[in-house]
Amino acid sequence: NGVIGIIGAMDEEIAQLLGEMEQVQQQTFYNITYYAGTLCATPVVLCKSGVGKVNAAVCTQTLIDRFQVEAVLFTGVAGALHPDLDIGDLVISTECQQHDIDASAVGFPKGTVPFQDVSIFPADPALVAWAAEAGRRIAGVNVMTGKVLSGDQFISDANKVRELREQFAGACVEMEGAAVAHVCHLAGVPYVVIRSMSDRADHTADVNFAEFTELASERSAHIVREILRLR
Ligand code: ADE
Repeated sequence: NGVIGIIGAMDEEIAQLLGEMEQVQQQTFYNITYYAGTLCATPVVLCKSGVGKVNAAVCTQTLIDRFQVEAVLFTGVAGALHPDLDIGDLVISTECQQHDIDASAVGFPKGTVPFQDVSIFPADPALVAWAAEAGRRIAGVNVMTGKVLSGDQFISDANKVRELREQFAGACVEMEGAAVAHVCHLAGVPYVVIRSMSDRADHTADVNFAEFTELASERSAHIVREILRLR
């Protein structure tokens, strides 16, 4: 039916897009409100999942089951892991992985879901290409495609950044993308995660996150808008 699901985790991450939507009808399921309407002349359902993997999973499942979305876009902010990323720069997910799942004590590699065929969830190549193209149109912003890592932890430690780079080669770290990716993988629904860097996930992360979340949220939302226009 051509409806696109758009998720942000926090108010800042969906505020602008929500303000631009037309013919909005809202419905609430499991404490998450879904705004159905049009954005850039495209039918969309926009929602704020709340923070963390469980909220993101419930939200994604609801978009698929109740709204029959044909694709899911995640927009928001992240902590930079790749040394070439500055605050405000963009990461488009080529794949997502949960960095905090760990059954290594019983022989499963860190970051993998025991007994499951896939633990690194690939994003939809067409959505990645559109998002990267959209990013290139925004002058002066560095756009990187790469792996997005997710876990139920706000990372604010340079040693942990090094570990996440060495173990998983993540471009950035956040708290929802891999849960969205996991549900989309199980359901066979295409997705892409778009993240603008609010901080460097080191000892300055809390201060930078507070200062730059609004700017980074707007950058990420801008890509979503451009994707809808390119479709
Ligand atoms: N989202 C934005 N910055 C983050 C960080 N440093 N860790 C986890 N999620 C984030």
